[in-house]
Amino acid sequence: MTTVAGTAAVALYLCCVFTQLTDLTGLRINELLYFRVISPEEISYIFSAAPAKDFGGVFTSSYEEIFLVPADPADGCSDLKDDNNIQGQVILVLRGGCSFVQKAQHVEEAGGKAVLIADNAEDNDSLYLDMVSDGSDAQPTIPALFLLGRDGLMIRRALQRQALPWAVITIPVNVSALGSFPLKQPPWTLW
Ligand SMILES: *[C@@H]1O[C@H](CO)[C@@H](O)[C@H](O)[C@H]1NC(C)=O
Ligand SMILES: *[C@@H]1O[C@H](CO)[C@@H](O)[C@H](O)[C@H]1NC(C)=O
Repeated sequence: MTTVAGTAAVALYLCCVFTQLTDLTGLRINELLYFRVISPEEISYIFSAAPAKDFGGVFTSSYEEIFLVPADPADGCSDLKDDNNIQGQVILVLRGGCSFVQKAQHVEEAGGKAVLIADNAEDNDSLYLDMVSDGSDAQPTIPALFLLGRDGLMIRRALQRQALPWAVITIPVNVSALGSFPLKQPPWTLW
């Protein structure tokens, strides 16, 4: 399994070295984009996330190995703690406390490449929210994606348990190229 996924990820990476400005929105299925956790092992599944409807950017290249770093403060509602771990990485924040746009703005200002906003309804494993802009002038340009509450909780919990500052992920993953990908969905996600 890992080998198949790994090969696909490499193939995708090679493809995009030559087409760096490709708009990878083509990787959406049912409006969802996919990412794969490489480590820690206990959450090494393929996760789905819903791109914001009317703000934020799109992935123009695929990151084969990038860190997914929980934000501090967790809700991303004020300036993120200046931390070298954030630069150029994907940042995980929690829904609530301020608008989705404000969270994305804070992550972008801190140097994050993309933001995953996990639902604060931590037992919700089925409802993807349509993230829309807040009517302000703020226009964050990094990709912003909504993550199910249950998935966000499991990721944060695994990192806390192992005292890890980040997970290593591949994003976005071309699931069309992975024949058996549903088998690698998290066991707690209804498919
Ligand atoms: C998820 O949230 C939606 C909307 O609030 C609700 O209808 C649904 O029952 C929730 N699911 C779970 C598993 O909590
Ligand atoms: C994703 O994979 C499919 C099947 O291999 C391929 O046809 C498609 O071009 C790929 N998409 C991108 C954006 O690489």
